[in-house]
Amino acid sequence: MPKELKNKVIQPPLINQDEKPPFETTTLWDYPKQSYGKTPKGNNRFQGVTPAFIIWNMLQRYTKPGNLVVDPMAGSGTTVDVCEEEERRVIGYDINPQHPKVIKNDSRKIPLEDNSVDMVFIDSPYGDNVNYSNELADVGKISAEDSRFYEELEKVAREIFRILKPGKVMGWLIGDQWVRKKFTPVGFKIYEMLTERVEFEPIDMICVARRGQSSNTRIWHYRAQKFNFFLRGFKYLILVKKPDSKAETSKSVNKVKWQRYK
Ligand SMILES: C[S@@+](CC[C@H](N)C(=O)[O-])C[C@H]1O[C@@H](n2cnc3c(N)ncnc32)[C@H](O)[C@@H]1O
Repeated sequence: MPKELKNKVIQPPLINQDEKPPFETTTLWDYPKQSYGKTPKGNNRFQGVTPAFIIWNMLQRYTKPGNLVVDPMAGSGTTVDVCEEEERRVIGYDINPQHPKVIKNDSRKIPLEDNSVDMVFIDSPYGDNVNYSNELADVGKISAEDSRFYEELEKVAREIFRILKPGKVMGWLIGDQWVRKKFTPVGFKIYEMLTERVEFEPIDMICVARRGQSSNTRIWHYRAQKFNFFLRGFKYLILVKKPDSKAETSKSVNKVKWQRYK
């Protein structure tokens, strides 16, 4: 491997500092950097930091100023910073907070009332690929190949379902895994858990291009070619909502639509 190719990050073009993020109209979102504007959103040195553009787009579509937004795994506080700039009320929790306004909490139990929140955004661990903390409750200690990973995240999903107001939206950012020559479709498994077991109603699925990750270096692109595997190129943003009423579950809604379109 030539020395100059090692660990050289491939940089996409930058966007203007004063620009607001583009309002997305398709299911393919691709951002050249983690944040926008003049103030930082989260900490772009925090491994696993969320692209601020994603949260901004969700706020424009699914909330109004003054609404309450919750991020149960807020890490370095990207959701907190974006919400404050956009004049939304916000509560960020994390098992290992990395932002002064993020509150320490295990998100398998969220200390909020039923039906009290207008939108939830969550960027959970995708498995045990990142060492977020030494906390026992850190879901990022469990491999995505282990069924316990989905069982623990289901507890988080049930709490999110409980605190959301009926008809309100959650976005869950998640990526697949390829390690030790094995592919795990983490995104599909989380989607199934949310819509089949917790009974969220599907809205849509967005592909978010992965650019800032540590494997986006020439040496990893070289290895992917030489050893015939693919680097992860995107994450899923799974958009779901809590049904408006108990009677309106995803299954009953789908049934009505099929009949109408026959
Ligand atoms: C992908 S990072 C979130 C990044 C964050 N959105 C940001 O922009 O900085 C995943 C986070 O989940 C947190 N986490 C893992 N298990 C948790 C649990 N049981 N309760 C709350 N947070 C947890 C980790 O500490 C980590 O900060």
